[in-house]
Amino acid sequence: MTFLWGAATAAYQIEGAANVDGRTPSIWDTFSHTPGKVVRGETGDVACDHYHRSADDVRLMSKLGLGAYRFSVSWPRVQPGGSGPANQRGLDFYSRLVDDLLAQNITPFVTLYHWDLPQELEDAGGWPARDTAFRFAEYASIVHDALGDRVQNWITLNEPWCSAFLGYGSGQHAPGRSNGADALAAAHHLNLAHGLAVPRLSGSVGISLNLHEFLPESPSDADAVRRLDAVGNRIFLDPLLRGNYPADLLDDTSGVTDWSFVQDGDLALIKQPMSFLGMNYYTRALVKLGDKPQDGEGLHHLPTSWPGSEHVTVVERDLPRTDMGWEIDPEGLLVQLRWVNEKYGPLPLYITENGAAYPEAVDDQERIAYLDSHLKVCDQARAEGVPLKGYFLWSLMDNFEWAWGYSKRFGIVHVDYDSQARTLKASAHWYAERIRSA
Ligand code: FCB
Repeated sequence: MTFLWGAATAAYQIEGAANVDGRTPSIWDTFSHTPGKVVRGETGDVACDHYHRSADDVRLMSKLGLGAYRFSVSWPRVQPGGSGPANQRGLDFYSRLVDDLLAQNITPFVTLYHWDLPQELEDAGGWPARDTAFRFAEYASIVHDALGDRVQNWITLNEPWCSAFLGYGSGQHAPGRSNGADALAAAHHLNLAHGLAVPRLSGSVGISLNLHEFLPESPSDADAVRRLDAVGNRIFLDPLLRGNYPADLLDDTSGVTDWSFVQDGDLALIKQPMSFLGMNYYTRALVKLGDKPQDGEGLHHLPTSWPGSEHVTVVERDLPRTDMGWEIDPEGLLVQLRWVNEKYGPLPLYITENGAAYPEAVDDQERIAYLDSHLKVCDQARAEGVPLKGYFLWSLMDNFEWAWGYSKRFGIVHVDYDSQARTLKASAHWYAERIRSA
């Protein structure tokens, strides 16, 4: 199989058309409309207006020579309210998008859940409530019934760590709740949601995880890495691929929850055959053990995102950073690819997100350097025999960067949010050339 070159987006970040054709609010509509939650009070109401411009955007992808496109389906667009019948107008949009992609020989990778839970399901308890997992499986069937004749590649969830620990732990993401026990219950129900959905899908099915890559500040900080690895990585990898929760995770979090939300039979349901693992990689962090909870800044390192390990802190390194403040460390990606392959393989892998935010500019040489260094690492991993099957750049175009609103730009295509004009950045030309010469 040839290596797949792609780009990725997510529904709430690009579609806009928030109140169109029967779509109802998701937790991100509610959150972004709540004062103080998103920088400058921005929302995804209009975003890149991709809902009305998808045909043009697909032409742009074709111009870049993309072999694959990863997008997500908005749950409240295709099943308003999160239960009950499908909304045909919402499904029609994705059906047209899939047809347009296939007409250009671009393989669709469909993410079913990229964080936009229907608000009604949050009102009924959200991800800390078990029923949400069953609702998700039903929704997965709706999408599969509509697109499964043409879509061969499915990603159940995007970054369940963020859904659970930023959504219900630190509250930096929708729905903005802050309770460690709820965050851990949410993580389990996201795992369960995946497990319940997989048997309802056909073709190639995987999940996208934002695995965290940590280094200890000194050898005596090894336990800091072990702890964050447990609640950041193995909390998903182990049940999904091995059918259990790690004993050290249960231990570390015993002061937070008794895990009674895990019912008999859940682990067997969660461990489903997986066709591939999607990995989203942006940065790496140096960590150390502190003696008390710290108000660390940086990549999601508010202590409340790490229940049971609040005393672990991030140590800043003297490395170049992107506009997100994330340290640039491509070696972390190599280490992570090797680790996943050795510990959980053999399993086909995709980089389902990698990219960088930089201040608004069309001549974005720094982004090219970032992408180039990470792609070199992908080449090296493949040369070593890691079964890496493709790479999806984040992101096709500038978009709504969650709590950062439109202030952070990840696109290789520039978006003028007033006119909605798309302009290829230098990185888009560079990526097109990289694909052509591969
Ligand atoms: C990831 C998200 C994606 C985007 C990038 C920058 O965590 O999956 O939607 O915001 O970060």
